[in-house]
Amino acid sequence: MFKKPDTLVGLGVGTTKIAVIVAERDLRSREAVHIVGIGSAPSQGIRKGLIVNLDQAVRSVRSAVRDAENIVGFRLDQAVVSFNAVDIGSVMSPGMISLGGVPRPIEADDIERLIDTARSGISIPSNRISLHTIPIRYSIDGNFGIDDPLGMTGTRLEMDLQTVTIPMQYAHNVVNCVRAAGVEVDGLVIKPLAAALGALTEDEMRAGVISISIGGGVTGLTFYKDGCPVKIGVIPIGGDHITNDLARVLGLSIKKAEELKKRVFSAGIDDSGRAPSGNTVDRAKVLEIIQCRLEELFGDNVLSMVPDRDPDQFPAGVVLSGGVANMPEIDVLLASIFKTSVRVADPRDYYQMPPGRSDSSYVGAIGTIRYILSKERSPYKFIDPPDLQWNGRGGGYVPEEDEPVGPTFGGGKKESTMGNFIGKIKKAFEELF
Ligand SMILES: Nc1ncnc2c1ncn2[C@@H]1O[C@H](COP(=O)(O)OP(=O)(O)O)[C@@H](O)[C@H]1O
Ligand SMILES: [Mg+2]
Repeated sequence: MFKKPDTLVGLGVGTTKIAVIVAERDLRSREAVHIVGIGSAPSQGIRKGLIVNLDQAVRSVRSAVRDAENIVGFRLDQAVVSFNAVDIGSVMSPGMISLGGVPRPIEADDIERLIDTARSGISIPSNRISLHTIPIRYSIDGNFGIDDPLGMTGTRLEMDLQTVTIPMQYAHNVVNCVRAAGVEVDGLVIKPLAAALGALTEDEMRAGVISISIGGGVTGLTFYKDGCPVKIGVIPIGGDHITNDLARVLGLSIKKAEELKKRVFSAGIDDSGRAPSGNTVDRAKVLEIIQCRLEELFGDNVLSMVPDRDPDQFPAGVVLSGGVANMPEIDVLLASIFKTSVRVADPRDYYQMPPGRSDSSYVGAIGTIRYILSKERSPYKFIDPPDLQWNGRGGGYVPEEDEPVGPTFGGGKKESTMGNFIGKIKKAFEELF
């Protein structure tokens, strides 16, 4: 196999699957791309979005990459990687520079100087990495609402800068894992941001919108306002929790519970309660268990992360993606909790997708491609870590023999016990089903 030039490769590390997406540039325009292949493989050694067994994770990544290579027919040797991290930090800092007494056009150097002043105002603990630095808004001579100051004229330039930080260990683990699978890491993007980029339209981003991406182990959130991601977060609850709840309460194996979850809304179970397993299950009870978990996720966890707990600040409503967004009625359920419009993202909104790979669980992979393009188009939209801590040029990172590869979850959000959540059905849900 030979290396094909001018392709963009996104590699998404998820709890459920590793997705590899390959896009080729349009011959006529560098900005237009076509998806030429998507590979995937089930994830192993990844829990709640984080690598907990490096060997298994490397094998999963390698097999997803092979899958994509077999489809496109050439070797993939570099990729921009999206991955999850619990414990995402976000700091806003202001920056200001003077352009001199006489108004003059703003140059790239000025913007870099401005970003440096905003950055110098914050200190990042040595065990964390600033994964993304995102200009949220600029002002020229006191007038905010400037999208891109380059070439505009003024005497004073100001900005608000958002710095997104994660524990450094997570970034190192993911980079080591992808490299060990034979792929060079060309960039890193936090998954909730990739999902938002794959799910949202420019109009929604400008109006204000909440992107919610529900995978197997975690749910990613990105809040957009005035065209910029103002907050990014991860909640350690995902579709697998629904499966586990079903297995526990109904006494099923995980495999059967997973099947039941996906089929309960369709014709999979009839009203007499015939489950795929052949066992008899109480359909109302299955729905109740699903609803309880989703209510906990949206009503308690997601809502508490909405800035000022006020979804009205996001008039374009909620856009859902990730595997769980395939669940029928989930948009109706969510609309009743948030009292806002909800739509399910479709990866075909941006690109033509290969057959069988067009459901909302591939939205994040699409977003990784849009992230690469967006960075090319405007170099200041998402800024990489200043010191390239993760790329190994500043000294490689190899975990100690007995150092845990993953984090511990002691301080995480408390999950509700079966007892309290079974009793937690609300009127809204009764009306739904
Ligand atoms: N039709 C469906 N109904 C309900 N849940 C689904 C459906 N399809 C996929 N899921 C769930 O989505 C989750 C996987 O999400 P996905 O975004 O593909 O993975 P990742 O965790 O790797 O980001 C799993 O919990 C899976 O059970
Ligand atoms: Mg996903």
